[in-house]
Amino acid sequence: MSAILARARLAPFKAATVARAISSSSTRAANPAPPDGTPPQKEPLMKQFKIYRWNPDEPTEKPKLQTYEVDLNSCGPMMLDALIKIKNEMDPTLTFRRSCREGICGSCAMNINGTNTLACLCRIEKTPKPAKIYPLPHMYIIKDLVPDMTQFYKQYKSIEPYLKNDNPPEKEHIQSIEDRKKLDGMYECILCACCSTSCPSYWWNQDEYLGPATLMQAYRWMADSRDSYGAERKEKLQNTFSLYRCHTIFNCSRTCPKGLNPAAAIAKIKLELATE
Ligand code: SF4
Ligand code: SF4
Ligand code: FES
Repeated sequence: MSAILARARLAPFKAATVARAISSSSTRAANPAPPDGTPPQKEPLMKQFKIYRWNPDEPTEKPKLQTYEVDLNSCGPMMLDALIKIKNEMDPTLTFRRSCREGICGSCAMNINGTNTLACLCRIEKTPKPAKIYPLPHMYIIKDLVPDMTQFYKQYKSIEPYLKNDNPPEKEHIQSIEDRKKLDGMYECILCACCSTSCPSYWWNQDEYLGPATLMQAYRWMADSRDSYGAERKEKLQNTFSLYRCHTIFNCSRTCPKGLNPAAAIAKIKLELATE
């Protein structure tokens, strides 16, 4: 009896093993390994990348889109992989920022196929349609895909993005679990500027309107139970431009590659200012 059971249990295993053997031998027949034992080569899968180029050393030359062809079978899956491959193997003059290659540093922000995003988190579509890559829109450009972030960081600095408290405790600064939770969805911001540079109000009023990234960080410190400068922080936003140029269009929240919601943070600041 036990021998019959054992055979019954083995039967499906054997069938699957035979099926796998048949399938792998038919794959080998269709794609035979070279006689020297090296693995079989895949057919090239070519895709075009059209990339914005501008060189400050040639100021009379207009910006242009330059086309590169990349074999996706010898390239990593993300847009940043393609850019690194182009720079390493085809054109060392191509200039872009990157560091962590895992969505943490925020430096590879650019406009890919019409959307502001991080090149290291953006998958290459395996379709014949060329990929189009531009720098973040409505920014001064230093070279190729590198925007000038001076104004963006100046605005960030202006909101004093650090804990301010005139009576700090002698030891730890205790925060309840509920108060700590109020910072979720804001502290994760990596300051990539994808949101601010997708905001029409920021495009036209960049000198005075702080933009969604900086405003969400302003609220991140207003909402922190350990900070005692909430009133002063709000007072600084009480003018026509810093905050109230936001018209709740929501481009910012739609584009954030980290899935954050700066428009909601701006709405909370407006609500707090209106109900004071
Ligand atoms: S809110 Fe999102 S898009 Fe905006 S700077 Fe932060 S991470 Fe980038
Ligand atoms: S919600 Fe406000 S900050 Fe966001 S895109 Fe619209 S105007 Fe800009
Ligand atoms: S390389 Fe750091 S976020 Fe893309």
